[in-house]
Order: sequence, then C-alpha cells, then structure tokens
Amino acid sequence: GALLGEVSPRLLYVLETWRQNPDAGREAVQTFVAADGARVIRPHFAPLGATQPASILVFLEDTSLLAEQVQQSKLAALGRLSASIAHEIRNPVGAMSHAAQLLAESPQLGPDDKRLTEIIRTNADRVSTIIDNILQLSRREPARFERMSLQPWLEEFREEFCETMQWPAERLVIPAGGPELEVRIDPSQLRQIVWNLCENALKHALGDDAGQRIEIRCGRITPSGRPYMEVADRGPGIPPEQAERIFEPFFSRGRGGSGLGLFLARELAQTNGATLLYEPRPGGGSIFRLVFADPQRWEIRRSGTYAADR
Ligand SMILES: Nc1ncnc2c1ncn2[C@@H]1O[C@H](COP(=O)(O)OP(=O)(O)OP(=O)(O)O)[C@@H](O)[C@H]1O
Ligand SMILES: [Mg+2]
Repeated sequence: GALLGEVSPRLLYVLETWRQNPDAGREAVQTFVAADGARVIRPHFAPLGATQPASILVFLEDTSLLAEQVQQSKLAALGRLSASIAHEIRNPVGAMSHAAQLLAESPQLGPDDKRLTEIIRTNADRVSTIIDNILQLSRREPARFERMSLQPWLEEFREEFCETMQWPAERLVIPAGGPELEVRIDPSQLRQIVWNLCENALKHALGDDAGQRIEIRCGRITPSGRPYMEVADRGPGIPPEQAERIFEPFFSRGRGGSGLGLFLARELAQTNGATLLYEPRPGGGSIFRLVFADPQRWEIRRSGTYAADR
C-alpha cells in the first residue's frame, strides 16, 4: 500500500474536508481531475462501522460519461430549437438592423437620435451572433483530423488573434521552443476553441491593467502522456460554485455575452476526442486546459477496436 496523500493529494484534501463535516458534502460536491489529466472524478465516502477512527470506504465515480450524456441531450434540444429560431428570429432581426442603418444615414437626424440607431444596430448584431452560434452548433461539421505540430500552429494563431483584436503580441505569451508536441485534431476547430478562450481572457479577466498578459502553455500530462494546451490569465477566476456552470449554454456573467463561448468550445473539444477543463490558477486567475486525445489511441482508433468514436 501507498499513502493516499502521495497517490492523490487532492483526494486526501477532499476526504479531510468530508471528515470535518460529513453532511456539508451534499451541496458543495468536490471533484478532482484523474491522473490521465482528462477525466473528472467525484469521490463519495462512507464510514465502515462505528469504531473510532472508523475505516472509510471511498467510491470513485467517473463523471465524464454522465456529463457527456447530459451534453448530448442538451445539444439535441438545441438542435430542434435552432431550426425554428433561424427561421422565426433571424430574418426579422436582420430587417431591424438594416432599417436602423438606413435611418442613421438620414440627414435630418440629430446626434442623439443617431446614437439611438447605433444602439438598435449593435444589439441587433448581438442577437444575430447568438443565432449564428446556435446554428453552427446544430449543423456541427464532423472533425477533419490532421496531425500537426502545436508550436508553428500557435505562432500563426497569435498573429491572427492579435491582429484582429488589436492586442499587442508580446502580451499573448506562447511557449518558446520546448519539446515538439504533435497532436491529432481538426485545426479550424482548434482555432475556434482557443480563440474563445483567449477572447474570454480579454473580456472577463484582464481589465484595463496594461501589465496583464494571456499565457498559453503546452506540455504533456504525467503520467498519461496526453498532450495539453492551456490558456491562463491573472483575472478574478471563477467562483467554485460556478466552475461547472460556465460550460452550460447561455450561462454568462459578462457584459453582453451570449454565454455560448465555453459551451461551444467544450462541444468542439469533445468532437475531437479532447477534454476542456477549468482549473483555478494558483496565485489567482483562471486556467482553461485542453487535453488532447491520447496519442497512443490514434492507431487503435483507426483499426476500429476503439469504440468511443463519435
Ligand atoms: N478567463 C475568464 N476569467 C473570468 N471569468 C471567465 C473567464 N472565461 C469565462 N468566464 C466566465 O464564464 C462565463 C461564460 O463564458 P462564455 O465564453 O461561455 O460566455 P460569454 O463570454 O459570457 O459570452 P460569449 O462567449 O458567448 O460571447 C462568462 O460570462 C464569465 O463570467
Ligand atoms: Mg466568451
């Protein structure tokens, strides 16, 4: 036997929390990430016998399967909704935006009225973006896998992101050199995922402090060897009780956000056999970690014996 604290310090911590207050566990369910860096485990504890100190039986529940099923049914519901949304809302909103634009060009309009037309337009555009996102989810394309090296991809990504967002490139830090990391993923879907994460860091975390940076880091999870990429910031982080909710569709605390960014990102990750997780950053801030499909399973997958193909 080995000591629990050596095998999993986090599990030991959750166990100690439970020991101190066995009844509190129901509301604040504590989870932790398994050693493969991708599966979320929920431990349950039961005392064996009444002797003190009692032996404790530990159940470890792998929540990824359940989470996936919940995600799938949400997606199915969204899919059914989206066709009617597209038809019923998209066109009228487009017409509103167009009318506001024409009105803004009218010479009789004073500056105050112009500002009002501007508000109509920005908000109509916001609604259109939400609809586009939902539509994109429901007609999700199957992933087109490519084997690629992360480093050159990241350099290209940084250039494009910083250019579009008018964000200084030296404040989006990517790994310099380091070991070559090869992943198997759909590059355009990877771009969407990382773009959403970086956009969130800009929007929700960095504020106006000129010293703030977004940091992208890569590596391999030990001991499973799965490659990962993470986007880290020094913002306020996510309150623990919201840590799983941020991945739900329409959950947003942001100003004017649709709350679809992280939902979409996690969906896309799943399509690619990858996992997207949130973790509080030691010292403050957020880490969003994308753990790529296990490279050792690529080959098995191709020969058809790996059943988790979606
Ligand atoms: N890096 C971060 N730091 C702090 N909070 C974050 C961060 N990323 C996401 N969040 C929180 O999670 C919520 C959900 O994020 P998500 O990207 O799904 O939606 P959104 O950014 O609000 O809207 P959208 O991405 O659709 O424009 C955000 O509203 C924000 O409260
Ligand atoms: Mg977002």
